Amino acid sequence: MDNLDQLVQQATADFAAAADSAQLEQAKARYLGKSGSLTERLKGLGKLDADARRAAGAEINRAKEAIEAGLEARREALREAALQAQLAAEALDVTLPGRGNLRGGLHPASRTLERIEALFRSIGFVVADGPEIETDWHNFTALNTPENHPARSMHDTFYLEGHDDVLLRTHTSPVQIRAMLAHVALHADLQTMPEIRIIAPGRVFRVDSDATHSPMFHQVEGLWVGENVSFADLKGVIADFLRKFFESDDLQVRFRPSFFPFTEPSAEIDVAFMSGALKGRWLEIAGCGMVHPNVLRFGGIDPERYTGFAFGMGPDRLTMLRYGVNDLRLFFDGDLRFLSQFR
Ligand code: FA5
Ligand code: MG
Repeated sequence: MDNLDQLVQQATADFAAAADSAQLEQAKARYLGKSGSLTERLKGLGKLDADARRAAGAEINRAKEAIEAGLEARREALREAALQAQLAAEALDVTLPGRGNLRGGLHPASRTLERIEALFRSIGFVVADGPEIETDWHNFTALNTPENHPARSMHDTFYLEGHDDVLLRTHTSPVQIRAMLAHVALHADLQTMPEIRIIAPGRVFRVDSDATHSPMFHQVEGLWVGENVSFADLKGVIADFLRKFFESDDLQVRFRPSFFPFTEPSAEIDVAFMSGALKGRWLEIAGCGMVHPNVLRFGGIDPERYTGFAFGMGPDRLTMLRYGVNDLRLFFDGDLRFLSQFR
Protein backbone atom coordinates (compact mmCIF):
# COMPACT_ATOMS: atom_id res chain seq x y z
CA MET A 1 0.00 0.00 0.00
CA ASP A 2 2.21 2.71 -1.35
CA ASN A 3 -0.22 5.46 -0.72
CA LEU A 4 -0.23 4.65 3.02
CA ASP A 5 3.52 5.24 3.08
CA GLN A 6 2.89 8.50 1.28
CA LEU A 7 0.28 9.39 3.83
CA VAL A 8 2.74 8.76 6.66
CA GLN A 9 5.35 10.89 4.90
CA GLN A 10 2.83 13.62 4.24
CA ALA A 11 1.71 13.60 7.88
CA THR A 12 5.27 13.71 9.16
CA ALA A 13 6.03 16.66 6.86
CA ASP A 14 2.84 18.45 8.02
CA PHE A 15 3.76 17.90 11.66
CA ALA A 16 7.26 19.20 11.04
CA ALA A 17 5.79 22.31 9.41
CA ALA A 18 3.56 23.05 12.43
CA ALA A 19 5.17 25.99 14.19
CA ASP A 20 3.30 25.60 17.47
CA SER A 21 1.04 23.17 19.30
CA ALA A 22 -2.18 24.72 17.91
CA GLN A 23 -0.99 24.16 14.33
CA LEU A 24 0.15 20.69 15.30
CA GLU A 25 -3.29 19.76 16.67
CA GLN A 26 -4.88 21.02 13.43
CA ALA A 27 -2.48 18.85 11.42
CA LYS A 28 -3.29 15.87 13.64
CA ALA A 29 -7.02 16.37 12.96
CA ARG A 30 -6.38 16.15 9.21
CA TYR A 31 -5.08 12.56 9.63
CA LEU A 32 -6.45 11.15 12.86
CA GLY A 33 -9.56 13.34 13.40
CA LYS A 34 -13.16 12.14 12.88
CA SER A 35 -12.93 12.65 9.14
CA GLY A 36 -9.15 12.57 8.88
CA SER A 37 -7.55 10.74 5.95
CA LEU A 38 -6.47 7.76 8.02
CA THR A 39 -9.84 7.51 9.77
CA GLU A 40 -11.53 7.46 6.35
CA ARG A 41 -9.30 4.52 5.38
CA LEU A 42 -10.35 2.61 8.47
CA LYS A 43 -14.01 3.27 7.65
CA GLY A 44 -13.35 1.90 4.12
CA LEU A 45 -12.29 -1.50 5.57
CA GLY A 46 -15.92 -2.53 6.00
CA LYS A 47 -16.30 -2.85 2.23
CA LEU A 48 -13.51 -5.46 1.95
CA ASP A 49 -13.88 -9.20 2.44
CA ALA A 50 -12.49 -10.81 5.58
CA ASP A 51 -8.93 -11.70 4.40
CA ALA A 52 -8.35 -8.45 2.58
CA ARG A 53 -9.73 -6.58 5.59
CA ARG A 54 -7.29 -8.26 7.97
CA ALA A 55 -4.30 -7.46 5.75
CA ALA A 56 -5.40 -3.88 5.01
CA GLY A 57 -6.29 -3.34 8.68
CA ALA A 58 -2.82 -4.36 9.77
CA GLU A 59 -1.27 -1.99 7.21
CA ILE A 60 -3.45 0.91 8.30
CA ASN A 61 -2.69 0.26 11.95
CA ARG A 62 1.03 0.33 11.26
CA ALA A 63 0.58 3.62 9.41
CA LYS A 64 -1.50 4.93 12.30
CA GLU A 65 1.22 4.00 14.80
CA ALA A 66 3.83 5.68 12.61
CA ILE A 67 1.75 8.85 12.39
CA GLU A 68 1.08 8.86 16.14
CA ALA A 69 4.78 8.37 16.84
CA GLY A 70 5.59 11.29 14.48
CA LEU A 71 2.97 13.39 16.24
CA GLU A 72 4.34 12.63 19.69
CA ALA A 73 7.93 13.34 18.52
CA ARG A 74 6.84 16.70 17.15
CA ARG A 75 4.93 17.52 20.35
CA GLU A 76 8.01 16.78 22.37
CA ALA A 77 10.16 18.91 20.03
CA LEU A 78 7.76 21.85 20.32
CA ARG A 79 7.65 21.53 24.14
CA GLU A 80 11.41 21.52 24.25
CA ALA A 81 11.62 24.55 21.93
CA ALA A 82 9.12 26.47 24.09
CA LEU A 83 11.13 25.63 27.22
CA GLN A 84 14.37 26.77 25.56
CA ALA A 85 12.72 30.02 24.46
CA GLN A 86 11.48 30.65 28.00
CA LEU A 87 14.89 29.88 29.49
CA ALA A 88 16.51 32.26 27.03
CA ALA A 89 13.99 34.99 27.78
CA GLU A 90 14.38 34.64 31.54
CA ALA A 91 18.09 34.11 31.49
CA LEU A 92 20.08 35.47 34.42
CA ASP A 93 23.60 36.57 33.90
CA VAL A 94 25.08 35.34 37.15
CA THR A 95 28.39 36.99 36.26
CA LEU A 96 26.89 40.52 36.47
CA PRO A 97 27.89 42.46 39.59
CA GLY A 98 25.12 42.47 42.23
CA ARG A 99 22.90 45.49 42.85
CA GLY A 100 24.01 45.46 46.46
CA ASN A 101 22.11 46.75 49.48
CA LEU A 102 21.58 50.46 49.97
CA ARG A 103 23.83 51.52 52.78
CA GLY A 104 21.94 53.29 55.54
CA GLY A 105 23.39 56.01 57.67
CA LEU A 106 22.58 58.22 60.60
CA HIS A 107 20.76 61.47 59.89
CA PRO A 108 23.09 64.43 60.51
CA ALA A 109 20.72 65.65 63.26
CA SER A 110 21.08 62.28 65.03
CA ARG A 111 24.83 62.37 64.59
CA THR A 112 24.97 65.75 66.29
CA LEU A 113 22.78 64.52 69.17
CA GLU A 114 24.99 61.47 69.68
CA ARG A 115 28.04 63.66 69.70
CA ILE A 116 26.52 66.06 72.20
CA GLU A 117 25.44 63.19 74.46
CA ALA A 118 28.90 61.66 74.38
CA LEU A 119 30.59 64.96 75.27
CA PHE A 120 28.25 65.72 78.17
CA ARG A 121 28.40 62.16 79.48
CA SER A 122 32.16 62.57 79.65
CA ILE A 123 31.70 65.35 82.23
CA GLY A 124 29.16 63.46 84.34
CA PHE A 125 25.82 64.40 82.77
CA VAL A 126 23.02 61.85 82.46
CA VAL A 127 20.60 61.78 79.52
CA ALA A 128 16.96 62.43 80.51
CA ASP A 129 13.80 62.76 78.47
CA GLY A 130 10.18 63.82 78.56
CA PRO A 131 7.06 63.62 76.38
CA GLU A 132 6.71 65.57 73.11
CA ILE A 133 3.02 66.11 73.89
CA GLU A 134 3.40 68.05 77.09
CA THR A 135 1.09 69.59 79.64
CA ASP A 136 0.60 73.31 79.63
CA TRP A 137 1.74 73.26 83.27
CA HIS A 138 5.15 71.64 82.57
CA ASN A 139 5.77 73.61 79.37
CA PHE A 140 4.84 77.04 80.75
CA THR A 141 3.41 77.43 84.26
CA ALA A 142 6.07 75.57 86.19
CA LEU A 143 8.68 77.43 84.15
CA ASN A 144 7.50 80.67 85.69
CA THR A 145 5.69 81.66 82.52
CA PRO A 146 2.50 83.45 83.51
CA GLU A 147 -0.87 82.87 81.81
CA ASN A 148 -0.60 85.81 79.44
CA HIS A 149 3.01 85.36 78.43
CA PRO A 150 3.48 85.84 74.65
CA ALA A 151 5.17 82.42 74.38
CA ARG A 152 1.71 80.92 74.84
CA SER A 153 0.18 82.79 71.91
CA MET A 154 -1.36 80.81 69.07
CA HIS A 155 1.35 82.18 66.78
CA ASP A 156 4.06 80.22 68.55
CA THR A 157 2.54 77.05 69.85
CA PHE A 158 0.79 74.02 68.36
CA TYR A 159 -2.17 73.25 70.58
CA LEU A 160 -4.22 70.07 70.39
CA GLU A 161 -7.81 70.55 69.32
CA GLY A 162 -10.23 69.81 72.11
CA HIS A 163 -7.45 69.52 74.72
CA ASP A 164 -6.74 72.86 76.37
CA ASP A 165 -4.26 71.46 78.87
CA VAL A 166 -1.81 69.77 76.45
CA LEU A 167 0.32 71.03 73.55
CA LEU A 168 3.32 70.07 71.44
CA ARG A 169 6.19 71.15 73.66
CA THR A 170 7.81 74.35 72.40
CA HIS A 171 11.14 73.62 74.10
CA THR A 172 12.87 70.91 76.13
CA SER A 173 12.74 73.04 79.31
CA PRO A 174 9.73 71.11 80.74
CA VAL A 175 12.15 68.20 81.18
CA GLN A 176 13.89 70.37 83.82
CA ILE A 177 10.70 70.25 85.90
CA ARG A 178 10.17 66.52 85.39
CA ALA A 179 13.80 65.78 86.24
CA MET A 180 13.76 67.89 89.40
CA LEU A 181 10.50 66.38 90.67
CA ALA A 182 11.72 62.84 89.98
CA HIS A 183 15.12 63.53 91.55
CA VAL A 184 13.62 65.07 94.68
CA ALA A 185 11.18 62.17 95.07
CA LEU A 186 14.01 59.66 94.68
CA HIS A 187 16.21 61.30 97.33
CA ALA A 188 13.52 62.51 99.75
CA ASP A 189 15.12 60.62 102.65
CA LEU A 190 18.55 62.25 102.26
CA GLN A 191 19.75 65.29 104.24
CA THR A 192 21.64 66.62 101.27
CA MET A 193 20.29 66.16 97.78
CA PRO A 194 22.86 64.81 95.30
CA GLU A 195 23.53 67.10 92.35
CA ILE A 196 21.28 67.05 89.32
CA ARG A 197 23.30 67.00 86.14
CA ILE A 198 21.23 66.14 83.08
CA ILE A 199 20.92 66.86 79.42
CA ALA A 200 17.61 66.27 77.64
CA PRO A 201 17.78 66.00 73.85
CA GLY A 202 14.56 65.81 71.85
CA ARG A 203 12.14 67.19 69.32
CA VAL A 204 10.26 70.43 69.87
CA PHE A 205 7.65 72.24 67.80
CA ARG A 206 6.82 75.84 66.94
CA VAL A 207 4.89 77.72 64.27
CA ASP A 208 8.13 78.86 62.65
CA SER A 209 9.73 78.51 59.20
CA ASP A 210 12.71 80.18 57.54
CA ALA A 211 16.36 79.41 56.78
CA THR A 212 17.28 79.12 60.47
CA HIS A 213 13.86 78.05 61.83
CA SER A 214 11.98 74.82 61.20
CA PRO A 215 8.52 73.99 62.68
CA MET A 216 10.00 70.80 64.10
CA PHE A 217 13.52 71.08 65.41
CA HIS A 218 15.69 69.66 68.13
CA GLN A 219 16.81 71.07 71.41
CA VAL A 220 19.16 69.83 74.05
CA GLU A 221 18.30 70.99 77.51
CA GLY A 222 21.00 71.11 80.14
CA LEU A 223 20.47 71.40 83.88
CA TRP A 224 22.98 71.40 86.72
CA VAL A 225 21.62 71.98 90.21
CA GLY A 226 23.71 71.77 93.37
CA GLU A 227 24.89 73.67 96.40
CA ASN A 228 27.39 75.98 94.75
CA VAL A 229 26.61 76.08 91.07
CA SER A 230 27.33 79.46 89.48
CA PHE A 231 27.21 81.34 86.20
CA ALA A 232 30.98 80.82 85.95
CA ASP A 233 30.33 77.03 85.85
CA LEU A 234 27.82 77.61 83.06
CA LYS A 235 30.33 79.57 80.99
CA GLY A 236 33.03 76.98 81.61
CA VAL A 237 30.85 74.02 80.65
CA ILE A 238 29.55 75.71 77.49
CA ALA A 239 32.93 77.02 76.31
CA ASP A 240 34.54 73.64 76.90
CA PHE A 241 31.72 71.84 75.14
CA LEU A 242 31.85 74.08 72.06
CA ARG A 243 35.59 73.73 71.69
CA LYS A 244 35.28 69.95 71.81
CA PHE A 245 32.22 69.81 69.61
CA PHE A 246 33.72 71.82 66.76
CA GLU A 247 37.29 70.61 67.38
CA SER A 248 38.28 74.17 66.66
CA ASP A 249 39.80 77.18 68.35
CA ASP A 250 38.71 79.21 65.35
CA LEU A 251 35.45 79.89 67.14
CA GLN A 252 34.08 82.96 68.89
CA VAL A 253 31.50 82.54 71.64
CA ARG A 254 29.54 85.35 73.24
CA PHE A 255 26.99 85.46 76.05
CA ARG A 256 24.44 88.14 75.09
CA PRO A 257 22.18 89.37 77.93
CA SER A 258 18.62 88.25 77.35
CA PHE A 259 15.39 87.34 79.10
CA PHE A 260 13.71 84.05 79.90
CA PRO A 261 10.98 83.80 82.55
CA PHE A 262 12.62 80.65 83.93
CA THR A 263 16.17 81.98 84.37
CA GLU A 264 17.67 85.01 86.09
CA PRO A 265 20.05 86.33 84.90
CA SER A 266 19.58 85.07 81.33
CA ALA A 267 21.69 85.09 78.20
CA GLU A 268 21.71 83.91 74.62
CA ILE A 269 24.81 82.09 73.44
CA ASP A 270 26.00 83.09 69.98
CA VAL A 271 28.87 81.59 68.02
CA ALA A 272 30.75 82.64 64.91
CA PHE A 273 33.66 81.17 62.99
CA MET A 274 36.60 83.33 62.05
CA SER A 275 37.06 81.53 58.70
CA GLY A 276 35.24 79.19 56.33
CA ALA A 277 31.88 79.29 54.52
CA LEU A 278 29.99 80.85 57.43
CA LYS A 279 32.81 83.25 58.38
CA GLY A 280 31.82 86.14 60.57
CA ARG A 281 28.14 85.23 60.79
CA TRP A 282 26.84 85.13 64.37
CA LEU A 283 24.33 82.39 64.98
CA GLU A 284 22.36 82.02 68.18
CA ILE A 285 22.77 78.44 69.35
CA ALA A 286 21.32 78.46 72.86
CA GLY A 287 19.48 80.28 75.58
CA CYS A 288 20.73 79.93 79.13
CA GLY A 289 20.83 81.36 82.61
CA MET A 290 20.65 80.67 86.32
CA VAL A 291 17.51 78.70 87.18
CA HIS A 292 14.88 81.10 88.55
CA PRO A 293 14.03 80.50 92.25
CA ASN A 294 10.36 80.03 91.34
CA VAL A 295 11.31 77.23 88.97
CA LEU A 296 13.38 75.49 91.65
CA ARG A 297 10.35 75.75 93.94
CA PHE A 298 8.07 74.23 91.26
CA GLY A 299 10.62 71.42 91.07
CA GLY A 300 10.41 70.88 94.83
CA ILE A 301 13.89 72.29 95.51
CA ASP A 302 14.78 74.92 98.15
CA PRO A 303 16.22 77.96 96.30
CA GLU A 304 17.77 79.24 99.54
CA ARG A 305 20.04 76.23 99.61
CA TYR A 306 20.52 75.15 96.01
CA THR A 307 21.32 77.01 92.83
CA GLY A 308 21.59 75.82 89.28
CA PHE A 309 22.12 76.77 85.70
CA ALA A 310 20.20 75.66 82.65
CA PHE A 311 20.58 75.99 78.94
CA GLY A 312 18.52 75.08 75.90
CA MET A 313 20.62 74.49 72.83
CA GLY A 314 19.55 74.26 69.18
CA PRO A 315 21.65 71.30 67.97
CA ASP A 316 20.34 71.71 64.41
CA ARG A 317 22.11 75.04 64.30
CA LEU A 318 25.27 73.28 65.49
CA THR A 319 24.82 70.82 62.61
CA MET A 320 24.58 73.74 60.16
CA LEU A 321 27.75 75.25 61.53
CA ARG A 322 29.67 72.01 61.68
CA TYR A 323 28.89 71.07 58.07
CA GLY A 324 28.67 74.59 56.61
CA VAL A 325 25.02 74.26 55.53
CA ASN A 326 23.15 77.55 55.23
CA ASP A 327 19.51 76.42 55.24
CA LEU A 328 18.33 74.43 58.23
CA ARG A 329 15.20 73.15 56.45
CA LEU A 330 17.34 71.02 54.10
CA PHE A 331 17.91 68.64 57.00
CA PHE A 332 14.20 67.89 57.26
CA ASP A 333 13.14 67.77 53.58
CA GLY A 334 14.10 64.08 53.42
CA ASP A 335 16.03 64.43 50.15
CA LEU A 336 18.53 61.56 50.03
CA ARG A 337 20.78 63.42 47.56
CA PHE A 338 21.41 65.88 50.37
CA LEU A 339 21.31 63.55 53.35
CA SER A 340 23.53 60.80 51.90
CA GLN A 341 26.44 63.24 51.86
CA PHE A 342 26.60 62.93 55.64
CA ARG A 343 26.82 59.13 55.81
C1 FA5 B 1 14.33 78.38 74.58
O1 FA5 B 1 13.63 77.57 73.94
C2 FA5 B 1 14.61 78.21 76.01
N1 FA5 B 1 13.84 77.12 76.55
C3 FA5 B 1 16.11 77.97 76.18
C4 FA5 B 1 16.56 78.02 77.59
C5 FA5 B 1 16.65 76.86 78.34
C6 FA5 B 1 16.90 79.23 78.19
C7 FA5 B 1 17.09 76.88 79.63
C8 FA5 B 1 17.31 79.28 79.51
C9 FA5 B 1 17.42 78.10 80.22
P1 FA5 B 1 14.91 79.78 72.45
O2 FA5 B 1 13.52 79.99 71.98
O3 FA5 B 1 15.85 80.91 72.26
O4 FA5 B 1 14.97 79.42 73.99
O5 FA5 B 1 15.46 78.48 71.72
C10 FA5 B 1 16.70 77.93 72.07
C11 FA5 B 1 17.51 77.59 70.83
O6 FA5 B 1 16.76 76.72 69.97
C12 FA5 B 1 17.83 78.79 69.97
O7 FA5 B 1 18.99 79.41 70.42
C13 FA5 B 1 18.04 78.18 68.61
O8 FA5 B 1 19.35 77.64 68.51
C14 FA5 B 1 17.08 77.01 68.62
N2 FA5 B 1 15.83 77.31 67.89
C15 FA5 B 1 14.81 78.09 68.29
N3 FA5 B 1 13.81 78.09 67.39
C16 FA5 B 1 14.23 77.29 66.39
C17 FA5 B 1 13.65 76.85 65.16
N4 FA5 B 1 12.41 77.18 64.81
N5 FA5 B 1 14.38 76.03 64.37
C18 FA5 B 1 15.61 75.63 64.76
N6 FA5 B 1 16.21 75.97 65.89
C19 FA5 B 1 15.53 76.81 66.71
MG1 MG C 1 16.34 82.53 71.59
